[in-house]
Amino acid sequence: MTIAPSRPEPGNTEATSSTAAAAPGYDRADWASAFRNVGTELTAVPLAAASGTIPSELSGSLYRNGPGRLERGGQWVHHPFDGDGMITAVRFESGAACLSNRFVRTEGWLAEEKAGKVLYRGVFGSQKPGGPLANAFDLRLKNIANTHVVRLGEKLLALWEASSPHSLDPVSLETEGVDLLDGVLAGGEAFSAHPRFDPGHHGQERMVTFGVKAGPRSTIRLMEFDASSGDGAGQLVADQKRSFNGFAFLHDFAITPNWAVFLQNAMSFNPLGFVLGWKGAAQCLGSKPGESGQFWLIPRSGEGEPLQISAPEGFVFHHLNAFEDPTAGAAGQVVVDSIFYDDFPSIGPGVDFRAVDFDTLPIGQLKRCRIDLASGEVSTELLEERCCEFAMVNPRRVGLEARYAWMAVTEQERGNAPLQAIEKLDLSTGERRTWSAAPRGFVSEPVMVPRPLPEAATADSPSVEPSEDDGWILCVVWNGARCASDLVILNAADLSEQAVLPMPLALPHGLHGSWAAA
Ligand code: CO
Repeated sequence: MTIAPSRPEPGNTEATSSTAAAAPGYDRADWASAFRNVGTELTAVPLAAASGTIPSELSGSLYRNGPGRLERGGQWVHHPFDGDGMITAVRFESGAACLSNRFVRTEGWLAEEKAGKVLYRGVFGSQKPGGPLANAFDLRLKNIANTHVVRLGEKLLALWEASSPHSLDPVSLETEGVDLLDGVLAGGEAFSAHPRFDPGHHGQERMVTFGVKAGPRSTIRLMEFDASSGDGAGQLVADQKRSFNGFAFLHDFAITPNWAVFLQNAMSFNPLGFVLGWKGAAQCLGSKPGESGQFWLIPRSGEGEPLQISAPEGFVFHHLNAFEDPTAGAAGQVVVDSIFYDDFPSIGPGVDFRAVDFDTLPIGQLKRCRIDLASGEVSTELLEERCCEFAMVNPRRVGLEARYAWMAVTEQERGNAPLQAIEKLDLSTGERRTWSAAPRGFVSEPVMVPRPLPEAATADSPSVEPSEDDGWILCVVWNGARCASDLVILNAADLSEQAVLPMPLALPHGLHGSWAAA
């Protein structure tokens, strides 16, 4: 395997004080070439570094999820979010890496594989063959398990927010089936694809997550699971339900030690087009211009009433993090950092996603909202003007004030474009660094992996708290020159390139993933 000639040289980083690029730094055909079916399933294939070396301390597995099948029987999905979930795993040990990938054997995937044609409609507008008549009144959901993949105890869970998780073998990636988490979930119950991992705010690592039952009045079920590696791993430790007026569209949330923070966008839902067969369910969502959304703060203790507070205008899919600032205001503040769009970005009927005009899409910008708990007032600050998505902090800082954020950004500093660079943002000084895969590379969500902590400290030799940016960034990059995917390892502190591992795999632009330490 050879490295693409266009790959930036190792150490190609810059402190981004330079001005915006004048012309688009990418070729649309390179970006669109990633939209394809994954044609192979690999088992523990060793990966060689085309440049650099794999850090020997990196010990564990990177799991990625995303749509792996975008076409069947000549029929393309209307939106890539409707593609069947395919899990990629890269396992690291002693400076070596190996790659496996498997489609999630969902009921829908198995049935369509057997039939050789599309049998289900997709939430984002993909249709069965035969036009509206063939689609009308078919309101079955195909659980495509394509959004996120996380470890919970011994289980590896592929998540899709509208229905049950699927569990997979963490090593072989073979699908074990729909998993109701030891009876915690009812069959088909919504289960978010955005759990948050509490690093130990209450003395124990937890996976905090939720499910939404949406309607004119919506109910959020907030669940907390033991996410330690101990005996109780995977067990439910807290569970509550809270109802709010309005149709809830909640993809993500954030946590602090005391609060679960939701941002309810100002959205309407008119299911007529879905029922009549010419729209997907998500295409029936509309923003309500001029109306603002609401923060819903649910006390994690289950005691006391939730708070409902007006949010700034805009649409949010993803949050970076949240934390509590007890010193601000009379009763403290909850601070939440989110990626705001001016409007709900959707692809209407009759538009080919591969031909989408980036200039017409709203851009995502990172903003900080300080919610004053006494007055209910919210102040907003723009943290990053450059179009960004998929932001995260060091996993040990989830729910706490974090110094640094890592995110996928556009190569150009203004306007919209495909995501081609990784940015590290210092949230206290505003200082930025970027690593770029442009012009022919396209990044996905960066996953920050902290360097493993030293052996348990003793009273005689207390361990030094490691710097928050001590670790690595792992990122799957679409290499347009090679028409295949690379795994890129960066130093999290300065974004210098540690290694590039070309993969014998072509992965469509993906969604979310996570790191599971060995
Ligand atoms: Co998401």
